[in-house]
Amino acid sequence: MTTFPFEISVREGKARTGRLKTPRGDIRTPAFMPVGTAGTVKALYMDQVKGAGADIILGNTYHLMLRPGAERVKSLGGLHKFSGWRGPMLTDSGGFQVWSLAQLRKMDGDGVTFQSHIDGSTHRLTPARSIEIQADLLGADISMQLDECTNFPCTHEEAARSLELSLRWGERSLDAFGARDSQTLFGIIQGSNFPDLRERSAKGVAAQGFGGIALGGLAVGEGHAQMCATIDMTVPHLPDHMPRYVMGVGKPIDLVESVARGIDMFDCVLPTRSGRHGQAWTWDGPLNLNNAKFAEDMGPLDEAVDCPASRDYTRAYLHHLFKAGEYLGPMLLSWHNTAFFQALMAEMRAAIAEGRFEALRAELSARWESTKS
Ligand code: GUN
Repeated sequence: MTTFPFEISVREGKARTGRLKTPRGDIRTPAFMPVGTAGTVKALYMDQVKGAGADIILGNTYHLMLRPGAERVKSLGGLHKFSGWRGPMLTDSGGFQVWSLAQLRKMDGDGVTFQSHIDGSTHRLTPARSIEIQADLLGADISMQLDECTNFPCTHEEAARSLELSLRWGERSLDAFGARDSQTLFGIIQGSNFPDLRERSAKGVAAQGFGGIALGGLAVGEGHAQMCATIDMTVPHLPDHMPRYVMGVGKPIDLVESVARGIDMFDCVLPTRSGRHGQAWTWDGPLNLNNAKFAEDMGPLDEAVDCPASRDYTRAYLHHLFKAGEYLGPMLLSWHNTAFFQALMAEMRAAIAEGRFEALRAELSARWESTKS
């Protein structure tokens, strides 16, 4: 199993900054990965994603296997060539999306059979098929093991059974992945919010020999405080030298508090999904551009974010675009939000490097208090 070199250059408390070195380029950590579900970061050109400062994006096995089909992406040259994203790409394994999106799904010890949310057709994912899709057909630089995510809340018994299944699937994913020169595979910890189960899962996944470790089963309705508590009960059981990735997180305050707890990587649809619905995330907190109070506001979205969408358009104009249902509204807000999330990560990296992360965290925590829900 190839593990990409992970160089931690500076630490402050549990927070760390460094680089994960991949054959397609370095990922500066802590890193936020924009989500390119169907081979596109919705409403953005790849140049805008790159220009916003993203080193890596995420793609989805579930969506791409259904449309246009993983074999077709392979025959068209792989996901990098197909989508125009030339940097590192991580793909999620599909289990979580089956859980959250598919109609009728049936789990068994070997995998999951489900019906497409697009046309109702029947499909199957096993650990080996997920690896084949991610690593061989899409060509992901970082693949994720197939896992099972439990509902929140769930019983101790359900979470225990599920995490043992995910551990077995992790082993099968590693077997299917085999030895590769330029690609790596991350394992996923489950265990809901039970300390003994998170410890068992973390130690189990850490011993399996992955190239990185993800915390799954978060951002499933548990809320900010419970998410922080779950990270706190898990991180002490993780090897220090491996990249740590919290999946599906989160709001800006979630990112700050997770970095403070020793997390290196994130992904979330929030910047683009919020952007499509008129919500802008700024250094001063969230703004809803649909609100009539912006109808004559001549100010920019956020002068402090170095992106044309953040500086060169008035809030009044953006309000108008959303009221009129114009495509440009979602495009500009997705661009701004993507740039803001990257600016936040860059500021956290700089703050750790300069020994002022705790001060930054205290300031942002107070400023964004109302978003801790
Ligand atoms: N994305 C967000 N949460 C999860 C999770 O628990 N597992 C996987 N595979 N992807 C996720």
